[in-house]
Amino acid sequence: MSSQTMNLLLKFIFLFLITELSKIDCWETRSCGTNPSCEFKQTFLSQITAQKFPKHCSTICGFLIIQKTDLNAEELTGLFKNIRILVGGLQIVGTKLENLKFLAGLRRFVQDNRYGFSSERFKITYNPELRELGLLNLTTIKSRSLYIANNEKLEKLNLPKLEVAKCLRNNCTIRVSIKTNASKFCITLKELNAFTKKRNKCDLNIDSGICIPENEPRVCTVPTEGCERLIGDLNITKGFDVRKVESLKRLYGTLNITNTDFTDFRFLGNLTRIVRLGYKTALVVVGNKLLRNMEFPKLRRIDSEIRRFAHFADNSEASHADFKSCYALRKAALQKGGLWQQFGDGRSCEQIEFPPTR
Ligand SMILES: *[C@@H]1O[C@H](CO)[C@@H](O)[C@H](O)[C@H]1NC(C)=O
Ligand SMILES: *[C@@H]1O[C@H](CO)[C@@H](O)[C@H](O)[C@H]1NC(C)=O
Ligand SMILES: *[C@@H]1O[C@H](CO)[C@@H](O)[C@H](O)[C@H]1NC(C)=O
Ligand SMILES: *[C@@H]1O[C@H](CO)[C@@H](O)[C@H](O)[C@H]1NC(C)=O
Ligand SMILES: *[C@@H]1O[C@H](CO)[C@@H](O)[C@H](O)[C@H]1NC(C)=O
Ligand SMILES: *[C@@H]1O[C@H](CO)[C@@H](O)[C@H](O)[C@H]1NC(C)=O
Repeated sequence: MSSQTMNLLLKFIFLFLITELSKIDCWETRSCGTNPSCEFKQTFLSQITAQKFPKHCSTICGFLIIQKTDLNAEELTGLFKNIRILVGGLQIVGTKLENLKFLAGLRRFVQDNRYGFSSERFKITYNPELRELGLLNLTTIKSRSLYIANNEKLEKLNLPKLEVAKCLRNNCTIRVSIKTNASKFCITLKELNAFTKKRNKCDLNIDSGICIPENEPRVCTVPTEGCERLIGDLNITKGFDVRKVESLKRLYGTLNITNTDFTDFRFLGNLTRIVRLGYKTALVVVGNKLLRNMEFPKLRRIDSEIRRFAHFADNSEASHADFKSCYALRKAALQKGGLWQQFGDGRSCEQIEFPPTR
């Protein structure tokens, strides 16, 4: 076979796979219409409605609300012992449950707007005794929103197998909202990575600390030579020892570069990602008068609450005119367009590239 034919063949196989893979996203929701015996139409789960619960099914379709229920954890475990996939919605509100281990068999949660009435598809709130979710086998969440709040004793999510949270459509924003006043609560790097994977747009409204992993090499909480993942803010001011951040790949905190004499940011040449929780700005660049450009060589992704990903002010004119970096940073934050207030003094990247002529 000539290499050209080979190439063509490979292209076809590739296209075929892409088409097939994109169908998988929908088959779970489609299977619901074809198997009515696995639908749960009662919504509110209680002793009475439990009699109609399709507990023999591995895929259950419906909007499940477990709210101030008269079922205890043991009874719930019995009902959910076969569940693998839940299509529809899930709300657990105002219960006395200490964990959600009755759902430990659940592998995939898929939102489906045909069921239920609330837009809060995955909601776990006001459970005063809840210590952890403990969804031990959950690998995938496909939902536009994830809302976990006001569970005042929550210590951890405990979603050890979670690989990815994503939307069904390609370009929608996942709103991850985790609010807690439990001082013990923290989220793990693995859970956080699942929420921010791929090209998914993610609006992180997570007001919590990040669990410091033990015995994890190359993770640090203060800038250290050789460290690849820093959990904490990174303040860079005049005289900063750049060796401490040359190996840094991921920053879980604010990158604040203020009043330095740096001419470029090549010393952050390994940094690919910034994740900032807690309603704070992810990237601050202020008062760097000698900058020749605003390039962060490998920075490809900035995750934070969507409106607060960056603040630029009072840097050199050259850096504020660097439209290439403007586009690159905007893309890293998965923003499509619009004005980018501080980067170019109220101008968009496009307006910096093509200044309006008068
Ligand atoms: C879930 O995972 C745990 C440990 O990872 C395993 O022991 C358990 O059997 C699984 N539960 C179900 C219901 O599949
Ligand atoms: C998402 O993609 C669809 C189809 O490609 C497009 O019509 C829509 O405007 C996009 N939405 C956003 C928020 O970019
Ligand atoms: C969390 O908030 C609840 C309700 O507002 C309050 O009763 C509780 O004491 C708070 N817990 C902590 C640890 O602050
Ligand atoms: C970074 O600077 C801010 C503002 O000056 C300060 O509050 C914070 O403690 C500093 N963080 C670190 C890790 O030095
Ligand atoms: C950034 O650092 C400067 C100087 O250390 C400090 O004054 C400022 O408050 C910091 N900004 C943030 C958002 O941490
Ligand atoms: C990136 O990290 C590697 C390995 O730690 C190091 O050799 C290299 O010099 C770093 N790159 C930059 C631009 O500092």
